[in-house]
Amino acid sequence: MGGDLSRRELLKRSGIAGAALLAGSACKDLASGFTKTSTAGPNDIILSKGPDTTGTLEKVLAMFNKENQSFKVVLEIASADTGQYFDEMRTQFQVGGGEIDVIGADVIWPAQLAANGWIEDLSELFTEEMQQDYLESTIETSVYKGKIYGVPWYSDAGLLYYRKDLLDKAGLKPPKTWEELLSQAKKVQEQEGIKYGFVFQGAEYEGGVCNQCEYIWNAGGDILDPNDPSKVMIGSPEATTGYESAATNVSSGVAPVAVVTYKETESLTVFISGEAVFLRNWPYGYSVATGGAAEGSVLKPEWVGVAHLPVVNAGDQGYACLGGWDFCINSFSDKKEQSWEFIQWMSQPEIQKMFAIDAGYIPGRKSLFEDKELLKAQPVMELGRSSFESTKPRPSANPFYSDMSLDMAQAFTGTLKGDTPPQEAISTLNDKMERIANVAEQTFNLGG
Ligand code: GLC
Repeated sequence: MGGDLSRRELLKRSGIAGAALLAGSACKDLASGFTKTSTAGPNDIILSKGPDTTGTLEKVLAMFNKENQSFKVVLEIASADTGQYFDEMRTQFQVGGGEIDVIGADVIWPAQLAANGWIEDLSELFTEEMQQDYLESTIETSVYKGKIYGVPWYSDAGLLYYRKDLLDKAGLKPPKTWEELLSQAKKVQEQEGIKYGFVFQGAEYEGGVCNQCEYIWNAGGDILDPNDPSKVMIGSPEATTGYESAATNVSSGVAPVAVVTYKETESLTVFISGEAVFLRNWPYGYSVATGGAAEGSVLKPEWVGVAHLPVVNAGDQGYACLGGWDFCINSFSDKKEQSWEFIQWMSQPEIQKMFAIDAGYIPGRKSLFEDKELLKAQPVMELGRSSFESTKPRPSANPFYSDMSLDMAQAFTGTLKGDTPPQEAISTLNDKMERIANVAEQTFNLGG
């Protein structure tokens, strides 16, 4: 079950000196950026994941540990920012693999991790028959060069949240275009004295990349060629229009300038404090917004509406960025069997259902979308359905995606700040991404 590159080769490529090859277990003591929740015994396995503020993950792991006698699972908590988590992970791999067995991996990682030989090819374990019950979009993000490297855990899609009570009062239906959003936001702001019209994630990080992909796709543009991830398409006039729509949301005063510092939590906090008419966020935001005082929300559940993100031109197909998390197995783990046993346990419909109800994590399994009990207990499953059905993945099939994403993040936030006009930002970004795509093509021969 090896990766495409040998460990030696990948360390060479990663610029790690030969001596580090021998470092193996000594690396466990390196400051990794992870926080372990308890001590792992010799048979135990380690799962890594960013913090789960709902507490559901800890609860579920406690269930596993109670049920399972032969080994336990210990949680190592990584950074909440997926980019920082990825860097922590990459550092561990570059010094010999680290001690994590099962990686709670962002859907944008499998290709990059697989190309470097850092995660296991699961094709023989996670059979095509087993894959049938999962959303095609989430399966696709786990595939690299025809092999599957991840089991979908939960799925995310960018949603437009709105204050249903206020739109109803103003006689408005949720906006279909950005222009409509702007005029509706201004109207409701004026009538109700609400501080902000719209909040989203404009900070320079991966979440900003998700937002910018949506702006670009919803203006008719694309990032890389979906059929050839070595071909850059971001230099188009449509992509510039996408950047313009984002920049206008800020320059019009509808979105505060502070969005350039907003990640998921900051924007959600503004919305649940009743200070914004519209919000772009992931599905778990629904549980938080409708969860009342316990979640810090001043909103009543019936005030929270969910719609598809707007497009630039009325009638165009709109897309939601596909996010979510998979389970992957570290290639350097010496507990691959236990890791697989744990992943199978975590992937049972009942467990996915628990995550959906308790944490608002949208299940990777398709059959759960027909589960009446779940649909009743977790309304965002229905409210967000049209968005879940029109997701697009970020171009992470390119193993150099994380490098591209850094440039994309910088360009987008720079434009929102007003530092660089949209067209200039897109043109510079296109050049930078082409350079990266060329190196990726030479290194990994993406065309085949
Ligand atoms: C969510 C998504 C993930 C994305 C991240 C960006 O966690 O599930 O795919 O990369 O947000 O902040």
